[in-house]
Amino acid sequence: MRVAAFALLVAVDAASAGSVPSFETDIAPVLRTRCAACHMTGTEAGNIALGPDDAYENLVGVASPTTGLVRVTPGKPEASYLLMKLDGTGLDAAGKGKGMRMPLGAAPLPEESIRMIRDWIAAGAPRN
Ligand code: HEC
Repeated sequence: MRVAAFALLVAVDAASAGSVPSFETDIAPVLRTRCAACHMTGTEAGNIALGPDDAYENLVGVASPTTGLVRVTPGKPEASYLLMKLDGTGLDAAGKGKGMRMPLGAAPLPEESIRMIRDWIAAGAPRN
């Protein structure tokens, strides 16, 4: 009995540790393939470079210059403008959000990718 409980605890622990997506290996590649063509240097519309070398610095704790909304607020997916842009909800957040759902003019990211980004933000948006 005690052994079973211990095994269960270890399993739960491993599952939750494994569930924090990696920015470098899970998220940056999505941004590179689906977003960086339009967000290459940061001088394009949106003012956000999303290539692998730039994305983290341009997202985490950075306010959108046009809306003042923080793009990624560590630990707070609901207060992260990036997610509003990706899931298309709350684009008019508090009357401040602007523009279109991302990626502009293309199919939305798959639900799993959006969930992965949400989980990463909820876990504190680590540079992992
Ligand atoms: C076809 C070009 C295009 C693609 C592809 C694209 N974007 Fe955009 N993005 C824009 C334009 C134009 C704007 C400015 C207008 C707006 O906010 O809708 C913008 C704005 C944004 C903003 C708001 C920046 C700010 O701080 O105001 C974010 C965040 C963003 N894009 C993220 C993404 C992400 C993430 C992807 C990939 C999933 C992506 N974009 C793909 C063209 C694109």
